[in-house]
Amino acid sequence: MNELKSMNDVTLQEYYTGLSHAYENVQAQKLKLDMSRGKPCTDQLDLSVDLLDCLSKTDYKATDGTDCRNYGGMDGIPEAKKLFSWMLEAKPEEVIIGGNSSLNMMHDLLSRAMLHGLPESEFPWCKLPRVKFLCPSPGYDRHFAICQHLGIEMIMINYLDDGPDMDQVEKLVAADSAIKGIWCVPKYSNPTGITYSDAVVKRLAAMPTKAPDFYIFWDNAYVVHHLTNTPDQLLDILKTCTTAGHPDRVFEFSSTSKISFPGSGIAMLASSAKNISWLKKQLNIQTIGPDKLNQLRHVRFFKDQAGIEAHMIRHAAIIKPKFDLVLEILESELGGKNIASWSNPQGGYFINLDTLPGCAQKIVAKAAAAGVMLTPAGATYPYGKDPKDKNIRLSPTFPPLSELKQAMELVVLCVKLVSAEQELANRGL
Ligand SMILES: Cc1ncc(COP(=O)(O)O)c(C=O)c1O
Repeated sequence: MNELKSMNDVTLQEYYTGLSHAYENVQAQKLKLDMSRGKPCTDQLDLSVDLLDCLSKTDYKATDGTDCRNYGGMDGIPEAKKLFSWMLEAKPEEVIIGGNSSLNMMHDLLSRAMLHGLPESEFPWCKLPRVKFLCPSPGYDRHFAICQHLGIEMIMINYLDDGPDMDQVEKLVAADSAIKGIWCVPKYSNPTGITYSDAVVKRLAAMPTKAPDFYIFWDNAYVVHHLTNTPDQLLDILKTCTTAGHPDRVFEFSSTSKISFPGSGIAMLASSAKNISWLKKQLNIQTIGPDKLNQLRHVRFFKDQAGIEAHMIRHAAIIKPKFDLVLEILESELGGKNIASWSNPQGGYFINLDTLPGCAQKIVAKAAAAGVMLTPAGATYPYGKDPKDKNIRLSPTFPPLSELKQAMELVVLCVKLVSAEQELANRGL
């Protein structure tokens, strides 16, 4: 039972009045803080500042002799493919290095699917009466935005503790040929922080699907973004699909957006040899080659796997105290009240806050009215509609600690205030 329910009417009204006064006091401070997006902070960007001058006037050639200043190199220079293939647990020949955005690669792949179909498709998806995608939720709002933009119907899938509800997924994909894919953020998921269990990965790889052209969009955006020194382990999806007899089922994505620079990092994609060869033909129509100087820069700067891993430890040293602060404030202000629950992620960029049903939108609006921007409530669900209106995504990385403290003190105040308001309304007071 939540603590509000145990208060009598008078106590509840007094409690609410106290919270309202506290809220008015914060409003008077005219805060202007932003916790809305998972962006690295300036200190994190500064970790990679040597990327800006680690090439020289004479250092522009790749190991295979490619002049990185020129056209060509469609799938990436060999040393970049080698450096980043370990992140995707793929062979270098199963990897394509793209521009600076993996979201761009996902968008392009889905657009190609609509226009031309994917390798196993009989028809371009736009020729079909309906195309559907499974969307484990809460999930990444920009995945859902791509589907909505392309007219792909989204089916919400619930999350369990170890990944999407696989009973739900298996039942749906076995019965409906219009279901062409599933979005997965399998490690330190945005926003839940969940890492998929081995059982979930195996079931995704093995499940029979009615559509022959069903694909897993495996967005491994947070693959090396650990907050502890005991990283979550995620099964290798490419190998698991191959073992299960579906070697061509998955397209895996990642990028260095939150390793080096979000504005000028390196995006990458891995898939089976068959899918890669198909995609390279498509890419040849789209571009005469990616930014290979940026690829070379990243290779010079990080050098090898150990270089990236050491760099990620430096990131964690900057952002872990921010996660800790948010968790401390949640625990000290909301712990034991049963009016909210939250995740304790071991990596990634987000803390997932669940409020009482029907409260999230009001909380986000109240925070905004007092100067703190949060991710819009509902954004973590298909069509922007959280069926229970209870999920709020908290992004602790960008604000400095002092601002984060102010922002979180307001957030927990808004959670208490709106929850009390709702309890008063429930009692007709
Ligand atoms: C799950 C997920 N995928 C992709 C992205 C964006 O990736 P990129 O910067 O490579 O386009 C983000 C950014 O927040 C993300 O959370």
